[in-house]
Amino acid sequence: MMRFRDRVRRTVDQTLPTWVAYRKDLLRPMRLYGGPMNGQPGRQQLVRDILREIAFDEVVETGTYRGVTTTFLSDVSGLPVHSAETAERFFRYAQVRCADRPGIALHHGDSRGLLRRLAEREGDAALFCYLDAHWGEDVPRYEELLTIHQRWSRAVVIIDDFRVHDDPGYGHETYHGRPLDLDYLPELPGWQMFFPALSAAEEGGCKRGCLVLASAELAAAVEALPGVRPVPPREAAGAVSTPGQRAARAPEPASPRLP
Ligand SMILES: C[S@@+](CC[C@H](N)C(=O)[O-])C[C@H]1O[C@@H](n2cnc3c(N)ncnc32)[C@H](O)[C@@H]1O
Repeated sequence: MMRFRDRVRRTVDQTLPTWVAYRKDLLRPMRLYGGPMNGQPGRQQLVRDILREIAFDEVVETGTYRGVTTTFLSDVSGLPVHSAETAERFFRYAQVRCADRPGIALHHGDSRGLLRRLAEREGDAALFCYLDAHWGEDVPRYEELLTIHQRWSRAVVIIDDFRVHDDPGYGHETYHGRPLDLDYLPELPGWQMFFPALSAAEEGGCKRGCLVLASAELAAAVEALPGVRPVPPREAAGAVSTPGQRAARAPEPASPRLP
């Protein structure tokens, strides 16, 4: 239970005006989760491998927070990186943190809006996308995935905090009391899904689960990587899913927070 003094400190912190709050954060830059991608060396290596083996044109991250993973993605890929953040405090902080990296474009606003704007451009770019926008009741990943699926024929997507149903050592997110798992996903015809090959016991950092999704054109290249394995049937892990349950659990596609 949080101590009274900590509760007061947190309350005061949350009521600071943004222009004070992000400067205060800059005075104490936090190595969140011990580094990029929740401080997970296995996840970092997986992303390095994906970015090395597949010729992408650009990278998108949803949920910038402190820009730790943003700078990692920029350094590892050498590609243009777009990152979206709704909270002005974190956006301002990340602007300062990423100021010396011209390849990073930070967007203050909803991740779905960013993806829709990127989707409106001409061309056939290959996209690597790290979906990590959450915290709160709003879970944008369903719509993010639909936009990517409808627009990009060459895309690889990693969803952070995803339930790896046959490895409970990995943590996952819940939304409205439900796990972020396969039932959450929209229909993505032609796409293939993978879990990390590394077990949670072998992974470091925060040991958060993830799902790797590859569009039909890039699925074989992803499958060949040592860091992934195909998603196994859930029945094997004792999980239950019927089409009825799936439909009942799909989140509302419309969001009142869309810009
Ligand atoms: C888990 S943190 C992201 C961590 C970051 N990707 C990293 O690896 O360091 C989630 C962030 O998403 C932001 N967020 C929540 N909903 C969002 C949305 N719809 N669009 C953009 N950002 C959002 C939150 O404010 C929070 O900063």
